[in-house]
Amino acid sequence: MDEKTLSALLSGLKLGNVRYAPSLGSTNAVAGEWLANGAPDLALVAAGEQTAGRGQSGRAWQSPAGSSLAFSIILRSGLHDDAARLPRLTALGALAVCTALENRNLTAQIKWPNDVLLAGCKVAGILAEAVWTGSHLDGVVLGIGVNVHPDAVTQARARERVLRYPAISVEEAAGQPIDRWDLLVDIVKSLLQWREKLNLPAFLHAWEQALAFRGEPIQVTHEIPGQSSPVTQVGILAGLAEDGALLLRTPEAGFGRSMSEKSTSFRLLTG
Ligand code: BTN
Repeated sequence: MDEKTLSALLSGLKLGNVRYAPSLGSTNAVAGEWLANGAPDLALVAAGEQTAGRGQSGRAWQSPAGSSLAFSIILRSGLHDDAARLPRLTALGALAVCTALENRNLTAQIKWPNDVLLAGCKVAGILAEAVWTGSHLDGVVLGIGVNVHPDAVTQARARERVLRYPAISVEEAAGQPIDRWDLLVDIVKSLLQWREKLNLPAFLHAWEQALAFRGEPIQVTHEIPGQSSPVTQVGILAGLAEDGALLLRTPEAGFGRSMSEKSTSFRLLTG
């Protein structure tokens, strides 16, 4: 891949601008700098491999050459200076990946807030990073990483020995070859379509429908300001609130799957 070819592949989608590098540290970092230097809305940065990919909660994210997708899209227009709306942008990335996978007859689900699952295993991760000037939101860098070929998962396993969550590649789930650049174009196309609906009830509905473990026992671990150790809450995953917070019905559940280590937004229902 090269910048000219990728730009041509994406030319029908009216993006802000496209940058590609065979290897770089993190597409989110590069996009963040670009945003600070005036990148237009829907500018895109993609990489053949990342050497310092960023994951949630300060973790590293592996994007080995030739087998994964790593790209970031800069969102500038239609944003509100409201941190409470940011989870919707993470969901925007996750729903775009789900839709592109569904177009390949794969049933994908969202492990709230930012993982995409196929067959119960993690196939993609989303990292939305906001850039603020004081209380004004300058823009958001929406980073998307997808394990496309089996090698992406093998290499991640080799590096981490024990993965935090079982991983899978799109090709393993599909049982047939997948062109990762076609997949990237499809994800971006879906993202643009979902962005049009971002503030509509249809968006929340699709997000809720795509949630993994609905009606099942889960545990959510979150940090409480001023407390040194995180607190874990167990309950039944009931759905999403209007603002995208996870609704957890308590207290009858036993131990469930862990949803997020440092969850910022969930609400308890009783009974
Ligand atoms: C996670 O599941 O922890 C989120 C992973 C997000 C990875 C993507 S890859 C493209 C973009 N650039 C980064 O450095 N991170 C995101």
